Amino acid sequence: MAMELAKLRATLASAGQQDVLRFWDDLNDLERAELVSDIESIDWPTVQELVDGMIKGDMATGVGPDWQALAARSTSPSAIRLSGEGNRWSESQARLRGEQMLRDGRVAAMVVAGGQGTRLGFDHPKGMYPIGPVSQRTLFEIFIDRLVATSRRYETPIPLLVMTSPATHDETVEYFNRLGGARPDLTDVTIFSQGVMPSVSASSGREAGKVLLASKSRLALNPDGHGGALRALDRSGTLAKLQQRGIEQIFYWQVDNPMVSICDPVFLGYHALAGSEMTSQVIAKTEPLEKVGNVVSVDGALQIIEYSDLPESSAMERNEDGSLRIWAGSIAVHVFDIAFLARMAAKAGSLPFHVARKAVGYVDGSGEFIKPREPNAIKFERFIFDLLPAARNGLVVEIDPAEGFSPLKNASGAAEYTPEMVQDAMVQQHRRWIEAAGARVGDDVVVEINPMFAWDACQLRERLAPGTVFSDATYLHCR
Ligand code: UTP
Repeated sequence: MAMELAKLRATLASAGQQDVLRFWDDLNDLERAELVSDIESIDWPTVQELVDGMIKGDMATGVGPDWQALAARSTSPSAIRLSGEGNRWSESQARLRGEQMLRDGRVAAMVVAGGQGTRLGFDHPKGMYPIGPVSQRTLFEIFIDRLVATSRRYETPIPLLVMTSPATHDETVEYFNRLGGARPDLTDVTIFSQGVMPSVSASSGREAGKVLLASKSRLALNPDGHGGALRALDRSGTLAKLQQRGIEQIFYWQVDNPMVSICDPVFLGYHALAGSEMTSQVIAKTEPLEKVGNVVSVDGALQIIEYSDLPESSAMERNEDGSLRIWAGSIAVHVFDIAFLARMAAKAGSLPFHVARKAVGYVDGSGEFIKPREPNAIKFERFIFDLLPAARNGLVVEIDPAEGFSPLKNASGAAEYTPEMVQDAMVQQHRRWIEAAGARVGDDVVVEINPMFAWDACQLRERLAPGTVFSDATYLHCR
């Protein structure tokens, strides 16, 4: 231990972070082991670089790109419509191509589920939230059903990759083990964890940039952002295994969106027809300040500007016809070419870190735990969408939000993205499908369709007798 301690002290000292050991003498063996393990999980040279460059440089105002200038230089991307006229390829061409990719077993599905879900305030990983409006099925169950249905339809295994973080890993693994017991169709699942970054003090002076302690024996750690997926896919060996299996594309989405059309063949088809290395779904923003990333084109390259970075004056700009100049909102649904991911993973610093000021509980110099109300810390996160400018032939596909986007972010009572709003969006979609199939749903009747029964209006039409009337809450599923 003495040897180990000397080595740790040296590593920490060279990063200017030896203070994290200040309670060492008070700790028992177990606590010391915890602290050592936390310290070993961190890439200290990177932390030092970030603290030096980003925090000490300009602690008060924040640093990073000049978003105002970038927004002024940006233009709107030319997007393909998922369904509609005027595209370079027809929808049926895209569907055929996407279906072939699925049949040939070239596609994997990946959900990022490593976030802490602080706004929702649910006691378990967000994927375990029972969102089904009638069935109370969890987000994970809805995704699995859609994937199993797709696998069956195209007679091909589609691997499911679930990225967790230390905050969500153990419970997610346990949950999938429990589910798997009852579901023989749940076989091709890989669960791997992303890395963490320490939160550092945002105060000025001597304390600036010091790593915070969550307790005397634990660092204040946060998952390293959904961009951590790149490193995690690579380090866990998942990327290499997929390549060995002949998988060429990964369909990516976030755990909070139950309406995502997983492995949509038309979306996959456009991606392939364009020879794109990364294709992203967007929606037309209805509000200038909508909380979605803004997809823009800067000097010919696609890029996403996070809503919190887009200056309000740029967000409000309108074209002559009244439409928003920066209109394309990212919904964090992408397809990645695996060779592209491998190339980017091999390149150091291919994803920059973003800084966010947050309120983070910490132990002060006397060992007392403080729970601040105001932001006191800086968190470092990587965003997966920062890969977009590097992608060859990057492509943007516009979808109808009513058919694919309703994220669960906040607890009941908030102004947006609450469980009730998500459920309502799901019910409205399923009501539309039922009515398009020539059946009827009574006013205010809640309906839900399991993706294994039908995952779109066309499939539902094949299964539902026209004239059927639903007058009570109904959950359509395969028995
Ligand atoms: P959000 O930015 O909405 O964060 O994540 P969150 O953790 O879910 O919720 P809050 O902000 O704490 O309330 C968007 C998606 O990215 C994933 C989340 O799990 C979610 O699917 N994510 C986020 C990760 O997988 N890892 C991260 O480090 C951050």
